[in-house]
Amino acid sequence: MIELMSEKDLDQVVEIENSAFPNNPWSRAYFLKEIRDNDLSEIYVEKQGDEVIAYGDLWFMFENCDLTKIAVKRDYRNKGHGTRMLKYLVNVAKHHGCEYMHLEVDVNNIEAVSLYKENSFETMRIRRGYYDNGADAYDMVKILIEAKPRTVLAIESSCDETACAIIDEDLNVYSSVVTSQIDVHARFGGVIPEVASRMHVEQISTIVKEAINQAKIPLKDIDAIAYTIGPGLIGSLHVGGIAAKSLAFFYDKPLIGVHHLKGHIFANELVRKLKYPLMALVVSGGHTELVYIENDQSFKIIGTTLDDAIGEAYDKVARVMNEAYPGGPVIDKLAKVGKRHYSLPTPKVDGLNFSFSGLKNAVLQLVKKEETLNNPLDKNDLAFAFQEVALNCLIDKTKKALEQYPCKMLVVAGGVAANSRLRKLFEENFRNIDLVLPPLKYCTDNALMIGCAAIHYLKNEKFVELSAPSLASMSIED
Ligand code: KG4
Ligand code: ZN
Repeated sequence: MIELMSEKDLDQVVEIENSAFPNNPWSRAYFLKEIRDNDLSEIYVEKQGDEVIAYGDLWFMFENCDLTKIAVKRDYRNKGHGTRMLKYLVNVAKHHGCEYMHLEVDVNNIEAVSLYKENSFETMRIRRGYYDNGADAYDMVKILIEAKPRTVLAIESSCDETACAIIDEDLNVYSSVVTSQIDVHARFGGVIPEVASRMHVEQISTIVKEAINQAKIPLKDIDAIAYTIGPGLIGSLHVGGIAAKSLAFFYDKPLIGVHHLKGHIFANELVRKLKYPLMALVVSGGHTELVYIENDQSFKIIGTTLDDAIGEAYDKVARVMNEAYPGGPVIDKLAKVGKRHYSLPTPKVDGLNFSFSGLKNAVLQLVKKEETLNNPLDKNDLAFAFQEVALNCLIDKTKKALEQYPCKMLVVAGGVAANSRLRKLFEENFRNIDLVLPPLKYCTDNALMIGCAAIHYLKNEKFVELSAPSLASMSIED
């Protein structure tokens, strides 16, 4: 049992002291003074019955705690009593609110030095001739405060989702709120930029407030504010940007401008830790890109679409079939019951680039032809045909990319990564590489993905000024 030392332990403690530190022991009078008069000192003893077998002394000086000594009775050495006493004293210091514990130890006292090292004390410097006998001492320190992971509030408003999320460096998710304008834009068959910006203005304050309320973390305790700086619809980006900047300015927080596609890519970290070099296939409404990522700050586009993005092609093909916006989920559903019936041409593009406008036009021509011939259009079969061709292009180019740029991991990112057939085909075709597909609800735009990316910006200290402009187009390589 370990307890505070009392005067009745004095004789035994002095005896251990003389045997443990024969060159410069503390005197009986000194110990007495320590326990009677020194309010800043506490001596603890470990006892078995009335027998003292170890003791340790602490001095408290504001945020610092000095461990002046630990001693173990001769017969009890090397039985873990030193470690037990040290751990106990560290806890005492933590309870006192100390931020670090400091000690000096004779460099020749190998046992003591290794005890401290094993308990995460670090050597700060050597004090030459510190002891009366001329021996050197190590100055050692242990940090007692456990650094809390930093939190980020992230805002996404690049297209037709207004979203806010709070996440910390250890990827603990405190909140993620998304509101979509899809219902409104569906009436027009696509996103109307002016309508989107106005709706962001209406939603943004409520969404940010909701994310803060759900997280139950006051804004003053958030460590950084992040937002999507680009690419996207400029009016929409501005709304999220202004909201983020207002919070950063008012609460004096660092500001992080996140590239939207990095958000899509880093959302995969919600599944597992990313390994580099990493290949990312970004498939969204605005982008189709193969990105070779050497580390979290080095992005190289090795393949891109020469015309339409794949998500855009899904949306347009759905429109040709008189289906609702967004077309991706609709085609996904129709194709599930479709069969091999229509044949569509495979786009021919050299290298690692993509092209989907030819495929989209082929669908349009096919629909027109069937109309002219008065043939009923089987939407399920057409969705199936389009999807097989489009997805096989993705697989083919991704395989080629991995041959040219060997990687430890492959991630798929962006709205189209929600596609059920894509997920199945990728799992079947990429068994030889660590493949990560984002959780379904984080495939399409959300703020949590912006938070995941923002954590990398925070660790790399990449911040932006309040004057930073939002950018409608922006390369992931910058
Ligand atoms: O990433 P995202 O939410 O927004 C952009 O950054 O563009 O992606 C939206 C795109 C839309 O084109 C939508 O049709 C497509 O993702 N999408 C899908 C599916 N769910 C969404 N495409 C195919 N299958 C899906 N299940
Ligand atoms: Zn997106």
